[in-house]
Amino acid sequence: NIIKLIDKLYEENLLNKNEILYILDNIKSYEVDYLCEKAVATRKKFYDNKVYMRGLIEFTNYCKNDCYYCGIRCSNKNISRYRLSLEQIMECADLGYKLGYRTFVLQGGEDNYFTDDKIVEIIKSIKYKYDDCAITLSIGEKSYDSYKKFFHAGADRYLLRHETATEEHYKKLHPKNLRLSNRINCLRDLKEIGYQVGAGLMVDSPYQTNENIAEDLIFLKDLNPEMVGIGPFIPHHDTIFKDEPTGSLEKSIIVLALTRLLLPSVLLPATTALGTINPKGREAGLNAGCNVVMPNLSPTDVRSKYALYDNKICMGDEAAECRNCIEKRINMAGFVLDTSIGDNINWHSPL
Ligand code: 5AD
Ligand code: FES
Repeated sequence: NIIKLIDKLYEENLLNKNEILYILDNIKSYEVDYLCEKAVATRKKFYDNKVYMRGLIEFTNYCKNDCYYCGIRCSNKNISRYRLSLEQIMECADLGYKLGYRTFVLQGGEDNYFTDDKIVEIIKSIKYKYDDCAITLSIGEKSYDSYKKFFHAGADRYLLRHETATEEHYKKLHPKNLRLSNRINCLRDLKEIGYQVGAGLMVDSPYQTNENIAEDLIFLKDLNPEMVGIGPFIPHHDTIFKDEPTGSLEKSIIVLALTRLLLPSVLLPATTALGTINPKGREAGLNAGCNVVMPNLSPTDVRSKYALYDNKICMGDEAAECRNCIEKRINMAGFVLDTSIGDNINWHSPL
């Protein structure tokens, strides 16, 4: 029975694949409420009512990859491409710092224009000016040596969603040159180097089954990342998945809550994608165990160009507006914004 499984998960932070699959296949809405209650109780043990805030700087929408789901894939000829200069990135950081951000997430496509030296320069510039801030990179698959250089330049955390832990499913979402094994090697390299690592997935991505999701959750439990990014799949009109259905809010909520219970101290953002499929999506995320928000710090004139999917929220909003909007939303949902650096509570720097 589902309630018994949820109780067991709450007590032991562990379930096997069949038990997870059973929940995914059979859970009813009143049981989802119970699951969320347990997820919120778990996040509360570690993080009380705090929600951490990260400033997202989308610094390039050039990408050499061609992931079938993503709006900035290289074969999309209908978007205008941009790169932020070091000065523009610093302006984002300056504004973000004033608004209270103490983590900057540098996210971009896999763009060879930004050589390792350029990335190192960006990291060092931010770190030199703001030594009380964390830098999170989200720039895709790189070599062990590159990851190491970025780490030694001062990067603290790295987001690299695994997307799906099932080889067959991975192949249906990506062209041949991208391999799940590479992705997993990258995640292991990042951990070994000493980053706080984030993996993650889209919910209801094309061809995804509940078994795939169960596999993802087992993979996450085994990897034990400090952060997990989960949001619904949302079609982008210039991709081959343009006619695929948008991911479900309820399914996303279930997967988020299960993730919280499997990895009790994880940093789990209520993602922009969640806020895009439903006006109260991020609030629903907070009520399912999420404890992070990542408002946008990118300059408004490039925002709409960083469209991984359609109808993304906050496209025209100034950074200050998002900062205030998000705090109101957090408070309305009964949580408090925490502007500290916000490491995973179980994180002990290897240095
Ligand atoms: N819908 C939802 N999420 C997407 N991402 C990329 N494209 C989409 C989409 N169409 C997610 C991927 C990626 C992260 C940066 O954004 O999971 O890892
Ligand atoms: Fe951007 Fe609400 S977070 S306007």
